[in-house]
Amino acid sequence: MSNEVLSRGLEDVSVAETRLSQIDGEVGELTIGGFPVDELAVNATYEESVFLLLHDRLPSSEELDDFRSDLAARRGIGDEVHAVLQRAADEQKPAMDALRMGAAAATLGTGDEDVDEDIRRIVAVFPTIVATYWRYLQDEDPVEPRAEFSHAKNYLYMLNGVEPTDDEVRGLETYLNTVIDHGLNASTFSARVVVSTESDVVSAVTAAVGTLKGPLHGGAPGPVLDMLQTVHESGNPEEYVRETLAAGERLMGFGHRVYRVRDPRAAVLSEAAERFYEASDDDEFFQTVTSFEDVAVDILEEHKPDRRLQTNVEFYTAALLHGVGVPKELFTATFGISRVGGWTAHCREQLEDNRLIRPRARYVGENDRTWTPVSNR
Ligand code: ACO
Repeated sequence: MSNEVLSRGLEDVSVAETRLSQIDGEVGELTIGGFPVDELAVNATYEESVFLLLHDRLPSSEELDDFRSDLAARRGIGDEVHAVLQRAADEQKPAMDALRMGAAAATLGTGDEDVDEDIRRIVAVFPTIVATYWRYLQDEDPVEPRAEFSHAKNYLYMLNGVEPTDDEVRGLETYLNTVIDHGLNASTFSARVVVSTESDVVSAVTAAVGTLKGPLHGGAPGPVLDMLQTVHESGNPEEYVRETLAAGERLMGFGHRVYRVRDPRAAVLSEAAERFYEASDDDEFFQTVTSFEDVAVDILEEHKPDRRLQTNVEFYTAALLHGVGVPKELFTATFGISRVGGWTAHCREQLEDNRLIRPRARYVGENDRTWTPVSNR
């Protein structure tokens, strides 16, 4: 076929233009909404980051108040969604399955919505879905959202039923800003494919949740925490890394499709985690985390000298989220609570200048078969 290029995994292929985020994988730079990730992460509230992606500018103080109140007013979920989440918890479904089911049900009873209404509703309700599922899983009553709390603070409050500390809120907020958008990653691509068919934003978001679930994308930080806790107990990171690689397994939290240097988000999150752990009593655990990184990067360099395997975002995600009190079973869902801001902004961007996303597959099957009736097979 003329002009056909086979690109397995669509590596290095651009299929859309975006103003939302820019990645330089060689140098290790990430810009979100025009800001270097480290500047946005530590200064913004999550609500400001979402507004920035949706409107391509920071909100005025009045606009921010309105936006925050509007999102806060949309946090509640109906009985139907509670029932879905209770059932998911009863059947011990993973959090990402509960989030997918909850997201699909979350617009029940809200009437015919337009794209912007759907976006606000779905962004607002993600933390409620995850926290409510978690409370059911713990055999505890769900906690009602508090409209006066910020998005980040309310999530921690709904998870644990107690007001989080300012350090915990700031730690989570830094995380939510850091991972809100990242080019055409797999889940964002899924969302854009769905809306490119002129389907709706809620369908796009449920597809994106399913995509984020996999261990090659958002599913890594839980296993990263297991790994760090094992090494914290054994005190022997080198043995752990060598045994993992000798078994032909991948070291979770390292390597990236785009970055050939340390993921810039790892730098932001390691600084946030360091600040957090220094202020808490668990400094020793954080020492394990940083020394593990040094050992692992050296051994990965020997293991794959050409690939330049470095720390990715998930490594310090595990350390930071664990520190601020998010249970490891919810790490990937908490990633979704942030990334839904990016998914929905991408949906809107796709719709502004839509073209159906429809690549090809190169056929490598049989030709010229002749039909054999079932009685003769
Ligand atoms: N540990 C050990 N070896 C690795 C790792 C790793 N973490 N990552 C890549 N490699 C090896 C591969 O086995 C492969 O070796 P081979 O050529 O002998 O087969 C080589 O390096 C090249 O790897 P690719 O598969 O081409 O890398 P790709 O770009 O497809 O994968 C990915 C990137 C999926 C992130 C990969 O590095 C990985 O599996 N890492 C571990 C899981 C992880 O941390 N996931 C979170 C990613 S960040 C995010 O999505 C938010």
